[in-house]
Amino acid sequence: MADAFLSLSHISKSYAGVQALDDVSLIVKPAEIHCLVGENGSGKSTLIKIIAGVVSPDEGQIVINGKPFPRLAPMDAIREGIQVIYQDFSLFPNLTVAENIALNYELSRNTRIVRWGEVRRLAQAALDKIGVRLPLDAEVESIPVADKQLVAIARALVQNARLIIMDEATTALTEKEIRALFGVIRNVQRDGVAVLFVSHKLNEVLEIADKAMIIRNGKVVVDADAAALDRNKLVYYMTGRRIDEADYDYVPQSKQPLLEVSHLSSPGNFEDISFSLYPGEIVGVTGLLGSGRTELALSLFGVLPAMRGEVRIDGQLVRIRDIQSAIRHGIGYVPEDRLTEGLFLDQSINRNIVIRTIDTLRQAGGLLSPARLEAHAREWINNLSIKTSNPELPVKSLSGGNQQRVVLAKWLASKPRILILNGPTVGVDVGSKTELHEIIKSLAGEGIGILVISDDIPELLHLCNRILLMRRGRLAGMFERAVLDENKLTTLLTESTTIGSAVPSPQVQ
Ligand SMILES: Nc1ncnc2c1ncn2[C@@H]1O[C@H](COP(=O)(O)OP(=O)(O)OP(=O)(O)O)[C@@H](O)[C@H]1O
Ligand SMILES: [Mg+2]
Repeated sequence: MADAFLSLSHISKSYAGVQALDDVSLIVKPAEIHCLVGENGSGKSTLIKIIAGVVSPDEGQIVINGKPFPRLAPMDAIREGIQVIYQDFSLFPNLTVAENIALNYELSRNTRIVRWGEVRRLAQAALDKIGVRLPLDAEVESIPVADKQLVAIARALVQNARLIIMDEATTALTEKEIRALFGVIRNVQRDGVAVLFVSHKLNEVLEIADKAMIIRNGKVVVDADAAALDRNKLVYYMTGRRIDEADYDYVPQSKQPLLEVSHLSSPGNFEDISFSLYPGEIVGVTGLLGSGRTELALSLFGVLPAMRGEVRIDGQLVRIRDIQSAIRHGIGYVPEDRLTEGLFLDQSINRNIVIRTIDTLRQAGGLLSPARLEAHAREWINNLSIKTSNPELPVKSLSGGNQQRVVLAKWLASKPRILILNGPTVGVDVGSKTELHEIIKSLAGEGIGILVISDDIPELLHLCNRILLMRRGRLAGMFERAVLDENKLTTLLTESTTIGSAVPSPQVQ
């Protein structure tokens, strides 16, 4: 394979009883866009870590640029031009955007003086390539998750990569940002750079990939030209079954709204938001990045207290000043940036699940029975089909999609009455997505009121009985599920109508 940039043959890897990869071979040629597709826990991230030299395979050969690497070290991989963007982006939160993008590159020049002007110039050039504007001097911890992802991508571009590997790099990006990213990928492809891409968004895979490799339980099922695949085939190869999902069938349970929001405002974030949420409803909140959808959720959860307006729960006026008061009122929030906000990665799966409910599990005298704790955690591990060989292992040993289920389990275990889910199935494979949707629907069926923040159009249509559309901080429309379909919702979501324009708004009483 003289023309291959990267060639993996017969790679196997197991972790304490889990066969993460089983006899996997992969060839990536220069300028090829290759997608890696598979269910949560199928071994995608493990394969990527092996290519990056971070994890050593138990068996198999790695050849890069024609050179065999019996023991590939991370520095070898970088020297050969392999750049990886991981699910957690590996950014430095207290360095600026510019420093995160270009400081490493500047330091690698072995000069003793850091040319700060050069750092900024390189960073700006990389961002221009992606076609985004970010504040170069902002600390990375202060920017939204989607922007963090863009910083990670820009950083890889600065380092003269020959192969850029993106492990769910588009997970938190909106449609528009993904379009921009695909533009960039095609640009780097023209320069001969290959891209290996992991995504659970199958339409995306089919749009950008030249080749797609599908793995299931660590084994290659198919490695084919993307042109020979379609969405149904992908789903079938990934899961071994066909998946159909029914739309949520909302049955009104009470005339008394669970949550009433009136004229809620947080200047600079959102203005004059009014809506109600009834028991058993799943209400979608959608809008592009910057629409204020996440800020609204954060405000209801007490992270970003509103300046004006009213919130009522069961008809009673409440003040949500901070997270504690939100929790006291039975509000739960599953954040967008789960990997950094939602979990204690070094603590066990069990502990993460029960962490919010520990007090209610205490018996008389304040004693905490480990058996009780474990049984409680096990219930959620089963409910959410969390794939683990041992729930005492740290959460970081789980695959990304399974970590997400742990965050969800943690909140569900605390039995909230109002649950706000921000991107509940981002990074979750199609099969699991349907399972999570079923869980969310059955929670609503039990009388919980659920707000789902998402811009995944099929997800919104499957889950929600009503959808609120936000645009530049304002409510631009409120739609019954029945009046929407994919085309209509897509148009509404991407329309660049200005604030306060006459969007049809069938108000619901
Ligand atoms: N350090 C580790 N210790 C124990 N088990 C591990 C470790 N790393 C991965 N595994 C296991 O190996 C399997 C493959 O995990 P991997 O992270 O590669 O999956 P993935 O395909 O990336 O999934 P996702 O889509 O959820 O990110 C999983 O069963 C996972 O629990
Ligand atoms: Mg992964």
